[in-house]
Amino acid sequence: MIKLVEVGPRDGLQNEVRPVSAEVKVAFLRALSQAGYAEIEATSFVSPRWVPQLADAEEVSRQLCEQPGLVYTALVPNRKGLERALACGYKRVAVFTAASEAFSQKNTNRTIAASLQEFAPLVEQARQAGASVRGYVSTAWFCPYAGVIQAPAVYEVTRAMLDLGIDEVSLGDTVGLAVPSQVHSTLQHLLDNGLERPQLALHFHDTSGTALANVLISLQLGFATFDCSAGGLGGCPYAPGASGNLASEDLVYMLEHMGYPTGVDLERLARASLELAAHLGRTLPSRTLARLQAGWQTAERT
Ligand code: HMG
Ligand code: MG
Repeated sequence: MIKLVEVGPRDGLQNEVRPVSAEVKVAFLRALSQAGYAEIEATSFVSPRWVPQLADAEEVSRQLCEQPGLVYTALVPNRKGLERALACGYKRVAVFTAASEAFSQKNTNRTIAASLQEFAPLVEQARQAGASVRGYVSTAWFCPYAGVIQAPAVYEVTRAMLDLGIDEVSLGDTVGLAVPSQVHSTLQHLLDNGLERPQLALHFHDTSGTALANVLISLQLGFATFDCSAGGLGGCPYAPGASGNLASEDLVYMLEHMGYPTGVDLERLARASLELAAHLGRTLPSRTLARLQAGWQTAERT
């Protein structure tokens, strides 16, 4: 079974320039909650000055729809964010740093070392509140400010996060420039240095159209957790030019038809994306979504 982490409501919506109402976000989350995901990242509790689009995190979180087998996560940058998330009842939170110093400064106004130092008490506080912690390493292949990132830098920060008690680290191709050979060499480096597959997830953005190929090479190396975004929504406000995450519909379509079950119902997922697209007043980039919307189906394929 492949585990998919739906990040559209956070990574996708954080990048929408026009304000999206809490009501629309809640409807999107409700529709996604019916699609069969194991995990959905619902929002982030970051500074509203840095990401105004998600300033309504409390209002949205109060209206989440519980589903058996579904865990909601929230992205938190610091103690204040953690406390806001715990007060809303989250049992899983995600912290984030980067493999590139320059990106860490732009995204969180602090060094990687300072972030790691801040995570230690956060992980402990989360644990005491009965919550688990996921982590992100952004710019694991390319940094928009520093260029190519070497695998040992990714190893170092990932190892440090795991050592703090973070149970899964998602490696981000934040700007969507990685190609399969680079994904392979970094992942192989991490495995050769003792990291284990279940400790890692892959978070590909699809700026260059290489995200599915990057999933395929990761699958061939035995990785089984992937982040994705409904409709291909998104980007990163601190990575200019980066486009959305790998579209969930494209990923589910490929995995299911390759014989890798995901638990995600493609039609329900597509309905959630189409409803959101109608509210946003534009089409979303997923090609599988476009195909489904056009009613184009082969005899047995949805
Ligand atoms: P700062 O300005 O250095 O922080 O920001 P500060 O501690 O000096 O606080 C400044 C003000 O923000 C204060 O308010 C704080 O109270 C407030 P004031 O006293 O001036 O009125 N504040 C907060 N308010 C609400 N919730 C909070 C919070 N924290 C401080 N949690 C900080 C530092 C880390 C807070 C800021 O840089 C920040 O919020 N950054 C988040 C940026 C972000 O959300 N980026 C996108 C998410 S990461 C991503 O997309 C990548 C990923 O998808 C993986 C990939 O693709 O690579 C995960
Ligand atoms: Mg991202």
